[in-house]
Amino acid sequence: MPDDLAYTPIQRDPPNSSLAQGQKVNMSNQAEHPALLIPGPIEFDDAVLLSMGHFSQSHVGPPFVATFGETLSMLRKLFQTSNPASQPFVISGSGTLGWDLVAANLIERGEDALVLHTGYFADSFAECFETYGIKATQLKAPIGDRPQLPEVEKALKEKHYKLLTVTHVDTSTGVLSEIKALSELVHRVSPDTLVVVDGVCSVGCEEICFDEWGIDVVLTASQKAIGCPPGLSILMCSERAMETFKNRKTPPASYFASFKNWLPIMQNYEAKKPSYFATPPTQLINALHTTLTQILSRPLSERFAAHSEASRRIKSTVTSYGLKQLATKPENQANGMTAMYLPEGVKAAEILPNILKKGVIFAGGLHKEIAAKYIRFGHMGVSVTDPKRDDIDRALNALKEGLYEAGVKV
Ligand SMILES: Cc1ncc(COP(=O)(O)O)c(C=O)c1O
Repeated sequence: MPDDLAYTPIQRDPPNSSLAQGQKVNMSNQAEHPALLIPGPIEFDDAVLLSMGHFSQSHVGPPFVATFGETLSMLRKLFQTSNPASQPFVISGSGTLGWDLVAANLIERGEDALVLHTGYFADSFAECFETYGIKATQLKAPIGDRPQLPEVEKALKEKHYKLLTVTHVDTSTGVLSEIKALSELVHRVSPDTLVVVDGVCSVGCEEICFDEWGIDVVLTASQKAIGCPPGLSILMCSERAMETFKNRKTPPASYFASFKNWLPIMQNYEAKKPSYFATPPTQLINALHTTLTQILSRPLSERFAAHSEASRRIKSTVTSYGLKQLATKPENQANGMTAMYLPEGVKAAEILPNILKKGVIFAGGLHKEIAAKYIRFGHMGVSVTDPKRDDIDRALNALKEGLYEAGVKV
């Protein structure tokens, strides 16, 4: 962060009265609160939260322009792209805005998109495409699995698709997709098709090699493994994706989500020049700068290894409790979250309040066909990487006790 920036202390909330006596959560300097272990938003580092308390800055003044410019350059490192023609975007909004950015700029009305389905979020991406008059064909896998490469190959040979989308980790099922092999397949079978990755639940905890794997777009959001409060839509586009945008036959199908409006702004900020289309959320950009500085201070490989190690431990522990995951095959299992079925007769709505009493918040099910039957445990960011925190052990114990109280023999 540029050194003219000084922090003011953040206002502390009174201790959270919903915690039972003796269930204090040790969270450094933050007010006591239950550990938020849903698959996003996640727990945030103190320094990141303090950045949100920054005094007000002009969004076109040199200090903030420097912060934003550095943030965009750091994103290139996070996504592992060294091609200067790759283009990062950081825009006020949530992960959902990433879908609109893709639909409004990289494909045109009447064209076809192939949407690989591993859960709830593919349905929503497809719905977003339809809103823009784009024909979305979904290739679905059974719950807990992902479409297999030969099926994708067959679909790509049957019709020309302008782009293919894949959810790297579907947050509703905890299913991980294989981006490298998929991208290789698309380049081989349908070389014009853009490879678009929804990385909302993967960027920051799953490996992504943007250049090496030949990805055209990764869209994500601030609030999951990147470790910044919600409110930012983050996108990395390849040179090829930007060429596709420049060669559009029709204007972008949105005003706020138009690359035409945002591209010069992103390019100017990165060149440390002021410019304006719509006011950026200055406090959030400060927070993103802080978390990216922290993440990039260590090799990314260490971060991914820490997430996969924690995930292995969590998955083997919950298996020892008798719980089955939605994603049954080890290679399909996400490293930043675990979605697990509850034992017969135990409902999410019953067990989650018990777990909360022990100082831990898990999420209920989201996949509409089985929502009441499973729960989700998010293990991303500081809960995994900060050795001072005991969130993961606390969560595993809370789950064990919660099951026991629900009459399950653990
Ligand atoms: C995989 C995935 N894609 C997209 C979204 C939408 O992001 P947001 O809720 O930030 O709009 C989410 C949200 O959890 C998600 O998990």
